[in-house]
Amino acid sequence: MKSFKSNAWLLPQPVLIIGTYDKERKPNAMNAAWGGQWDMHEIMISLGSHATTDNLAVNPEFTVTFATKRTMVAADFVGLVSGRNTPDKVQKTGWTVVPAPNVNAPVFKDFPLTLECRVKQKLEESKTGYYLVAEIINILCDEKYLAEDGNPDVEKMELITYDPVHHTYIQLGQTVGKAFSDGKQLK
Ligand SMILES: Cc1cc2nc3c(=O)[nH]c(=O)nc-3n(C[C@H](O)[C@H](O)[C@H](O)COP(=O)(O)O)c2cc1C
Repeated sequence: MKSFKSNAWLLPQPVLIIGTYDKERKPNAMNAAWGGQWDMHEIMISLGSHATTDNLAVNPEFTVTFATKRTMVAADFVGLVSGRNTPDKVQKTGWTVVPAPNVNAPVFKDFPLTLECRVKQKLEESKTGYYLVAEIINILCDEKYLAEDGNPDVEKMELITYDPVHHTYIQLGQTVGKAFSDGKQLK
């Protein structure tokens, strides 16, 4: 086996799009890969200092959605430029923006699934950022992406994952098994 020095290569990584409002309620969006589930009703995201963190300082509510093959170019764009110096950042994405029903934050309707969140804790906060822990208040799913059982159909969503090795986006593939079930064969 070949060895590599320590790197941010935990796999697979999500492509999270964080939606916030500034103090004038103007929407912003940023891309974040370093996030995940923290607890049953909480998520965690590692954040640098951004327009997004400026916004969260004045309004602790936000949305998190998951980039798809179709939203990939604009999802990358919102990870390349800052709302701090690009006032028309969200306009340039072409995304349809509506207010979230349960939190004071924007929903980007071009995405299948959106978490409505509220900041719970900012861990190790400094000038360069913090680890955000947030409560999931509600989850919205575009009805086009519901499975027959009424739950979100992840396979339909064409979600993408960030490859931190080659800095690419890879589309998720198809269902290959049943969790908490297929392993029983080896019991
Ligand atoms: C693929 C990708 C992943 C990123 N992951 C993170 C991340 O996990 N945390 C972070 O603070 N910034 C991350 N960024 C950088 C921010 O998205 C970027 O600095 C953005 O311009 C911030 O926007 P804002 O200043 O409008 O909030 C990522 C960017 C890309 C393209």
